[in-house]
Amino acid sequence: MTENILEIRDLHTSFYIPDTHELLNAVDGVSIAVRTGSITAIVGESGSGKSVTCRSVFHLIDPPGEIKSGEIMFKGQDLLKMNEKQRIRLYGNELFMIFQDCASSLNPVFTVRHQMLELLRLHGKLDRWEEAERQCLEALRLAHLADAERVFRSYPFELSGGMCQRVMIAMALLVRPDLLIADEPTTSLDLTIQAGILDELKKLRDQGISILLITHDIGVVAQMADYVYVMEDGKVVEEGDIFALFDHPRHRYTRLLLEAARK
Ligand SMILES: Nc1ncnc2c1ncn2[C@@H]1O[C@H](COP(=O)(O)OP(=O)(O)O)[C@@H](O)[C@H]1O
Ligand SMILES: [Mg+2]
Repeated sequence: MTENILEIRDLHTSFYIPDTHELLNAVDGVSIAVRTGSITAIVGESGSGKSVTCRSVFHLIDPPGEIKSGEIMFKGQDLLKMNEKQRIRLYGNELFMIFQDCASSLNPVFTVRHQMLELLRLHGKLDRWEEAERQCLEALRLAHLADAERVFRSYPFELSGGMCQRVMIAMALLVRPDLLIADEPTTSLDLTIQAGILDELKKLRDQGISILLITHDIGVVAQMADYVYVMEDGKVVEEGDIFALFDHPRHRYTRLLLEAARK
């Protein structure tokens, strides 16, 4: 097995803008590696291309967007060359993603219970109902959902944005993927809950699960990441070991991010 569970190589993803007939190069030649067993962070301001980068990994770019070129090597296989059937087999199993807009990534017509059990069933991890339900409830509690029983029986529209986000986190804890991509997983949560969730993510890392963490919050990066990529305008402008980056930021933009975080 290679040392990097994920290697995004020279990825270009763009959107056609009908009004101006121009192409917006949202991701413009990005290369990012996630070392097996690490937490790797992508940090950058809003609009810098972080979400489009991770949605590209999952092929979730809809027209007028398009992945133009690049390679996305997951455990040595190019996800961009796989057919849908092969990809679906990996998703929710070896690969899992917590989306930035969680509410829309849960299915509105099914309860949380249905969706969590379905996730287990799809990947052959559903043996006994009672045991599966117990695991789901345990995951919801670990994701700091106080009223886990009620959440379990709710439809997504009955939950707040922060609760949906925690349901997605619970799903990640449940499936224990090899690689978890978490796009701003704690942005709509209050600070004590955020700290608890970040601890759970660290525990996953300590159990050998690789994590690609996307955030605009450099404070979160400082607490969590082993290795950091800084994005600006669709490009990686700086990368490094967390200590090197914080001690000697080379890029003007990284220095600005650090200064803003210290204020
Ligand atoms: N569906 C879309 N259609 C058109 N432009 C998009 C779409 N999704 C993202 N973009 C554009 O791509 C750029 C990068 O967006 P995004 O990756 O969401 O930024 P970030 O996650 O870093 O805040 C932005 O300029 C955004 O407006
Ligand atoms: Mg985003």
